[in-house]
Amino acid sequence: MSRLVVVSNRVALPGESAAGGLAVGLQAALEARGGLWFGWSGKTVREDSGQLHEAAERGIRYVTLDLSRQDVAAYYNGFSNRTLWPLLHFRLDLVDYARETRAGYHRVNALFADRLAPLLRDDDTVWIHDYHLIPLAALLRERGVGCRIGFFLHVPMPSADIAASLPDHARLFGALYAHDLLGFQTERDAERFRSYARLFGGATPAGDGHLRLPDGRTLRVAAFPIGIDTRRIAEHAAAAASKPAVRKLQASLGGRKLAIGVDRLDYSKGLPERFRGFSRYLERYPEDRGRLTFLQIAPVSRGEVQEYRLLRDQLEGIAGHINGLHADPEWTPLRYVNRNFGHATLTGFYRMASIGVVTPLRDGMNLVAKEYVASQDPQNPGVLILSMLAGAAAELEGALLVNPYDLDGVADAFARAAAMPLAERRERWDAMMRPVERNDIHAWCAGFLDALQAEPPASR
Ligand code: G6P
Repeated sequence: MSRLVVVSNRVALPGESAAGGLAVGLQAALEARGGLWFGWSGKTVREDSGQLHEAAERGIRYVTLDLSRQDVAAYYNGFSNRTLWPLLHFRLDLVDYARETRAGYHRVNALFADRLAPLLRDDDTVWIHDYHLIPLAALLRERGVGCRIGFFLHVPMPSADIAASLPDHARLFGALYAHDLLGFQTERDAERFRSYARLFGGATPAGDGHLRLPDGRTLRVAAFPIGIDTRRIAEHAAAAASKPAVRKLQASLGGRKLAIGVDRLDYSKGLPERFRGFSRYLERYPEDRGRLTFLQIAPVSRGEVQEYRLLRDQLEGIAGHINGLHADPEWTPLRYVNRNFGHATLTGFYRMASIGVVTPLRDGMNLVAKEYVASQDPQNPGVLILSMLAGAAAELEGALLVNPYDLDGVADAFARAAAMPLAERRERWDAMMRPVERNDIHAWCAGFLDALQAEPPASR
């Protein structure tokens, strides 16, 4: 088996507690193959980028590099999070484009290539993750790297016209051709990339999801829906009832039902619409008032980016307004919390909640939806309200699917979920749990890497 090299902007270093499902899956794959994980150290230094740090644990080597304040501003806060993130989430209205941050993005990708290329061997398998590193493979090729390289986009691929609204889009998206395999979250995302490549990238269909590229090579473009560490989450959720935070939350509910949402504080998550949909529910179903408490956990994210700060202000206003409108002296309908909780504690919250609320305006997959499902008590499962615009909707047909822009639809879903009989809840949960169990994070890693291994690297 060839050595695996994972490259991503964030690296889950050994000893860091907040390792999510993706880190667990990648670490398992890296351990099995004696691998290397390469990326940003997360440190911002005053002056020069490029200082390397090394760590090792359980046969995995971690190499990370520091970035200067200027590079973080241009590459991470700037082009990645103020240009690409809104573009890839269909939000042209929020795209902020500047040649300076674009240059910083390419400069940091070139630095990654400079530092990584000398560490690579001819028979390595390189797996690059997400929108921060779209040009990296092409830059590695320029530096003589010939091994297999795959890419997985964790976020949505927008339609061709949206992608082509980005100045210099052909240079950016064309760089993806340097890979041997391109993976997307859903078949719809993969098809939107194929369509972009046909319309704007000079590619033609080559059968079976492959593209024939302008240089004559073929490239496989396919869907690999990401999963979670299902077994571990189910175990944690079952054991979490004894955790103090879980017990305290339970006691605080006073016998009322709980609905829960957990999202990074990000405009793609549809939080203002969700709050308004909940408010509409209380208005239109007055008989349900006082029976249900909605807990929204929204840890602050990317706080240096202006749009995220504005969203935070906006949500505080809406949350205050809703509680002012609907609360009683003994009942607060909406609890809005910006702090973060440990992963195991969250699984306990999910299990306690009769309703999971996941209503992004766009999402590559959304793993909270899958974690909510995996955390349920099989004898008495809750109901998932899920946006049809999240990648997870393609697999979780047992959810109550809503359009997050349709506030009345969201209100109706709250009412229906709150009243759903046990038999229907069980049936829906079974239908959701099957794909969540079958396609867990380990199956996802293996599926992508097997597909990458199956592509002949000689195609270059
Ligand atoms: C999304 C992206 C990831 C990113 C994560 C957290 O899930 O797909 O690449 O790591 O958000 O965002 P952050 O900017 O804190 O890394």
